Amino acid sequence: MSSRIVVFTLLILHFFQCCSGSGLTNSGDTTLLLKVKKKFTRSPKSWKGSDPCRTWVGITCNNSRVVEISLVNLNVQGTLSASISFLSELEILDLTANPKLTGRLPPNIGELKKLTILNLMGCDFSGQIPESIGDLEQLTRLTLNLNKFRGTIPASIGRLSKLDWLDIADNQIEGEIPVSSGTSSYGLDMLLQAQHFHFGNNKLSGEIPEKLFSSKMTLIHVLFDGNKFTGKIPKSLSDVITLEVLDVSNNSLKASVVPSWISSLPSLSTLRMEGINLEGPIPVSFFTPPLLETVNLKGNLIDATLDFGTDYSNQLELVDLQYNDITDYKPPTHKRIQVILADNPVCLEEEGNKLSDYCKVIKHNASLPVTKTCPRCGEDKEPIRTSCLCVYPITGVLTFRSPSFSGYFNNTNFNMLQQRLEEFFKNPNYPVDSVAIKNITESIVDHHLLIYLLLSPLDKESFNQTEMNSVISGFSKQMFVPPERYGPYFFKADQYILFSGIMKTCHTIKSNLCIIIRAVLGAVIFLLLLTIVGIYALRLIKRASDQNNPFAKLDTSQSSIDVPQLMGAKAFTFEVLRKCADNFSETNDIGEGGYGQVYRGMLPSGQLIAIKRAKRGSLQGGLEFKTEIELLSRVHHKNVVRLLGFCFDRGEQMIVYEYIQNGCLRDSLSGKNGIRLDWTRRLKIALGSGKGLAYLHEHADPPIIHRDIKSNNILLDENLTAKVADFGLSKLVGDPGKTHVTTQVKGTLGYLDPEYYMTNQLTEKSDVYGFGVVMLELLTGKIPIGKGKHVVKEMKMKMDKSRNLYDLQEFLDTKIITNSENLKGFENYVDLALRCVEVEGVNRPSMGEVVKEIENIMQIAGINPNVDSIASSRMYEE
Ligand SMILES: *[C@@H]1O[C@H](CO)[C@@H](O)[C@H](O)[C@H]1NC(C)=O
Ligand SMILES: *[C@@H]1O[C@H](CO)[C@@H](O)[C@H](O)[C@H]1NC(C)=O
Ligand SMILES: *[C@@H]1O[C@H](CO)[C@@H](O)[C@H](O)[C@H]1NC(C)=O
Ligand SMILES: *[C@@H]1O[C@H](CO)[C@@H](O)[C@H](O)[C@H]1NC(C)=O
Ligand SMILES: *[C@@H]1O[C@H](CO)[C@@H](O)[C@H](O)[C@H]1NC(C)=O
Ligand SMILES: *[C@@H]1O[C@H](CO)[C@@H](O)[C@H](O)[C@H]1NC(C)=O
Repeated sequence: MSSRIVVFTLLILHFFQCCSGSGLTNSGDTTLLLKVKKKFTRSPKSWKGSDPCRTWVGITCNNSRVVEISLVNLNVQGTLSASISFLSELEILDLTANPKLTGRLPPNIGELKKLTILNLMGCDFSGQIPESIGDLEQLTRLTLNLNKFRGTIPASIGRLSKLDWLDIADNQIEGEIPVSSGTSSYGLDMLLQAQHFHFGNNKLSGEIPEKLFSSKMTLIHVLFDGNKFTGKIPKSLSDVITLEVLDVSNNSLKASVVPSWISSLPSLSTLRMEGINLEGPIPVSFFTPPLLETVNLKGNLIDATLDFGTDYSNQLELVDLQYNDITDYKPPTHKRIQVILADNPVCLEEEGNKLSDYCKVIKHNASLPVTKTCPRCGEDKEPIRTSCLCVYPITGVLTFRSPSFSGYFNNTNFNMLQQRLEEFFKNPNYPVDSVAIKNITESIVDHHLLIYLLLSPLDKESFNQTEMNSVISGFSKQMFVPPERYGPYFFKADQYILFSGIMKTCHTIKSNLCIIIRAVLGAVIFLLLLTIVGIYALRLIKRASDQNNPFAKLDTSQSSIDVPQLMGAKAFTFEVLRKCADNFSETNDIGEGGYGQVYRGMLPSGQLIAIKRAKRGSLQGGLEFKTEIELLSRVHHKNVVRLLGFCFDRGEQMIVYEYIQNGCLRDSLSGKNGIRLDWTRRLKIALGSGKGLAYLHEHADPPIIHRDIKSNNILLDENLTAKVADFGLSKLVGDPGKTHVTTQVKGTLGYLDPEYYMTNQLTEKSDVYGFGVVMLELLTGKIPIGKGKHVVKEMKMKMDKSRNLYDLQEFLDTKIITNSENLKGFENYVDLALRCVEVEGVNRPSMGEVVKEIENIMQIAGINPNVDSIASSRMYEE
């Protein structure tokens, strides 16, 4: 009865904590955010509890009011609730790169009177852009690109007098560009602060209005490519003296002469007018803008002579006139410029002769900056460029819409970008270790420059959600400034594997309870609440007692089984583990253990776990299983993998262990996971695993024989500390007088003790044999049996004790040897290993002796056996 009261009290406390807590957040804002959350079918996992300012990822507050919502690339799903528009202090809304955020924008979005930044790039929004967007008077940046918006551009955008950046590219927006005349009193011509019009790849039509541009404007990028504009290019563009990049390629413009007013744009660096029916000759003055670098007039009807004259830009690098009607060419006189005149009459006449340079089509080659190659990491990890550590990087494509050196690829340019990125991310606001450029391509269709980036986390394996947010915000808020010639960009991140739902965390009973109680709040009077709480308390007690003794079910059939004597290990329900390992999905399957599959999972605390799930055929009896986990729960040693819990529920038997970062020794020896094992590290691994095994034999109570010692069952943690794993086949050594156990032979070929094989009598010395094989494997790096030859036999045959290194060099793994080390203690090590694999068990040393001897060898080698933390930066292949 008293335990009931305790639970009851706890519940009351819990209720006050999670339901009425007077947190940091204004209660109105909290209510609104909860409504916003409700419309998300998937929200960040920290979005729980009732104090968003304090604990929710991506929420920034000032004086308890929400001023920023920033959920960049967090795989948020669902729709955007209209409630968001009532967060009256909101200044920044950045939902960049959540490709399953769908539906329309709330029509009342204009209520957000203080909003300065609205970034929705790379989501799945559709429908018309709401007219009310024009009410966002403080807005400076509006990026809606890479969505599925339809309908027309609302004329009301013209009211956004502070707007600097307008990006609606890569949508399906149609109709004409609204200007303030005739039917409408607003139009984009009023955006005098705007520097960026990015409208590319939509279905905009009609003429580009003359009215749109004027000398009062401050545009630097006008990107209208890939639309359905008709008519002519408006001459008023020549008044926009700030213009740097102009792209009107790939529209249905009416045939017209090459505009000569181009020469009056003093800041122009990149001009793209591909495939828009330009005709007539190119005026000699055309190339005079002093900063002009790149001109692309491919696929037009330009004729007569191409003459650079004498006043052309000093900066000019590329002029692409492929597919035109040019008949004559006067090359530039005082600067080398890449000119492409292929598929013009002037080049056709050259046929048969040696082709002039300007008649060649230049294949733009994506040339990579030379980066060090690291071994592959496997799973979803990638090596850090500098250290080769395996981590979960942020990956994605940095797209430059209109680089001015396009077609002029070289490493100087890319190294400059890489350096700029590295510098930018050195800022302590960004937990980025390094930036790697994986590959570079130029899109043939629209000349976008696509740079595939990898951003590695600083000092850890993965980014958390807060960090993800801040890193990508560096791009989405355009804080990163690329080198000048790169022009406007956007970064489209790939989904981050750890937030993608593949590695879900478990839901706890606690949070469900909280939701239930909260739902009742306000509707029910206190007494009624007490009753309900009471009912829950009863249920909880029942549930808790069921959980504490999952073996209770056995009581009826097998009267002798009682609650297992567990030391710190926890009983998990099947449901909880299923969620931890995302339904035991293939992605989480990390290998096969002694009696079933092993899965990776993550506890709500964020702790990674390994779950060993017995196959149907390998289920033990309830009693055996209970005995096994009791045994395992008592094993506590630095060099033995720790048991965290178990599951004995719904006919399943699972064992939950700590997750060991660097996987098994076999993977490291094979080079599969990029870890480099030199002589020192190998000695430390031998010592660590030896100690683990000695503990099992000599200090565990009762003693444990492992029965399956092999390099797959020795795991390495982040410091390369060896841990003995997989007790699936373990057997206890029963009463003290008995020195062996008679069992059916189990084990792994190559490591199997020949004596045990012949006699079926299992002793600790069988493990010593397996350990000796592992010691030899540490020397060769190869599995013990290959091409029908066993390493023990081979070595014994080849060995010549009178010679240096016993003349065994040919067997040695080349990675053992580093220039600074000679293999001190090598001969003693080989002697010890061969004693371990003696045919008769009595001639083998005990594990305790083995450990002592390895310590001796380490002393000979000048290694302190007691220091085993290895600087992680030095751990990997260099
Ligand atoms: C918080 O709001 C106050 C006005 O309410 C303003 O003066 C202050 O600059 C704001 N602080 C930040 C960090 O934005
Ligand atoms: C022009 O645009 C159309 C559709 O917008 C696209 O399919 C085509 O590839 C584009 N061509 C060029 C050269 O940009
Ligand atoms: C382009 O790349 C290919 C293969 O990577 C290479 O063979 C070729 O020489 C390169 N061309 C130029 C112009 O760099
Ligand atoms: C790379 O291109 C830049 C201009 O884009 C030029 O100045 C530089 O000389 C080029 N470097 C090499 C190695 O070709
Ligand atoms: C660039 O790398 C990414 C990621 O590995 C890959 O998906 C893409 O296909 C690569 N592109 C090229 C052109 O190699
Ligand atoms: C993410 O990591 C940072 C440290 O880099 C820490 O301050 C922050 O609390 C973490 N956030 C979450 C949601 O775990």
